Amino acid sequence: MHELPKFPLILSPTPLHRLDRASVALGIDLWIKRDDLTGFAMGGNKGRKLEYLLAEAIEAGAQVIVTCGSGQSNFIRQLGAACAMAGIHCAAAVMEMPFEDEMPTERGLRETGGNVLLDHLLGVDLHWNANGTWEDLYAAARKVAEEYRSRGYAVYEIPIGGSSPTGAYGFYQAAKEIPSGFDTVVFASSSGSTHVGLQLGLAETRVLGFACDPEPEITEDFADLGNGLRRLLHRDDTVTAKDFEMDFSAVGPGYGIPSDEGDAAIEWLAKAEGIFLDPIYSGKAFGGLKRRIEQGEIRGKTLFWHTGGTPALFARYDSN
Ligand SMILES: Cc1ncc(COP(=O)(O)O)c(C=O)c1O
Repeated sequence: MHELPKFPLILSPTPLHRLDRASVALGIDLWIKRDDLTGFAMGGNKGRKLEYLLAEAIEAGAQVIVTCGSGQSNFIRQLGAACAMAGIHCAAAVMEMPFEDEMPTERGLRETGGNVLLDHLLGVDLHWNANGTWEDLYAAARKVAEEYRSRGYAVYEIPIGGSSPTGAYGFYQAAKEIPSGFDTVVFASSSGSTHVGLQLGLAETRVLGFACDPEPEITEDFADLGNGLRRLLHRDDTVTAKDFEMDFSAVGPGYGIPSDEGDAAIEWLAKAEGIFLDPIYSGKAFGGLKRRIEQGEIRGKTLFWHTGGTPALFARYDSN
C-alpha cells in the first residue's frame, strides 16, 4: 500500500538500548525503547500517532482540532504542541477523573502543574467538566466541537488518546524500528492504538500490554481498532479481542490513580538506570513487568517500550 501522508513531529528512530544494571539485577536481558525521548513536546507515544492524525486534519482543512481526555492527559499536551506547529487551534474537554465509579480524588493527580501547565503554555482551550463517566466526557467533547462549528470554524475531531486507525498506523510504522530477536515487547496500554499498531506490526514477537484501565472488555475495542487498521492497510484477514494479550494485574486502585507497585517501580528504575517513568502508565507497566520477571513468568530478550508521560510526575498531590 501507499504510506499515509505524514506531518513530521518526532525525531525517529527513537533510541533503543540495553538496561545493563537492571538486566543484572533482574537476571534477564532487558532493553528499552525510548519514546520518552522523541524530541517532541517532552516526549511520549502520542507523537507517533499525531504525525499521521495531523496530516489527516490538515488535508481536511481543519482550523480547530477538538479532543478529550483526563485533565493530566499526555495526549492533549502533545496534540497542543502538534497544533502549535501546524498553526491549528486546539481545544479539549477534560475532567479530572473520568470514571464510572467514585474515586478518591486526592489520590489522583492535581488539576494544575504537569501537563496542564504545558497545555496553558501551548494555548490549548481546556473545557473542564465535573467528574463523570467516559460517555459524559465524549459528550462534552462533541459539545465543544459543535460550539466551534456554530462559530463557523472547520473542526476536526480526534478520539481520546488519538486511537483511530490512523493513530494506530503510527505504531504500526514504529514497529519497523525494532530489530528481530526480541522475544517479548512490553508497554502500558490504554486507549489501544499503541497496542494495536505494535500487534499488527510485530508478527514474530509476543506483544504484551499492561492495562492502565480496569476494563476487561477493552480488548473488544482493540479488535475494532485493529480491523480498522487492517482495512487501512488493505489486509483481508480480521483480528479478535483474543489477539491482544493484556495483563490487568498492574492497574492498582484505578485509572489515573498512582499505585504502590508503580511508585516503587518508578523509584527502582530511577535509581538503577537514571530513567524516569510516569505514575499513571509507564510506571505501572514497568512495575508489572518487574514483578512477572521476578516470578519467572517473563524470560528471554525483553523490550520495555517507554511510552513517556513524565510531566505527570509534577502533578502529584505529594510532589510539592
Ligand atoms: C505515557 C503513556 N503511556 C501509555 C499510554 C497508552 O497508550 P494508548 O492510549 O495508545 O493505549 C498513554 C496514553 O494515554 C500514555 O500517556
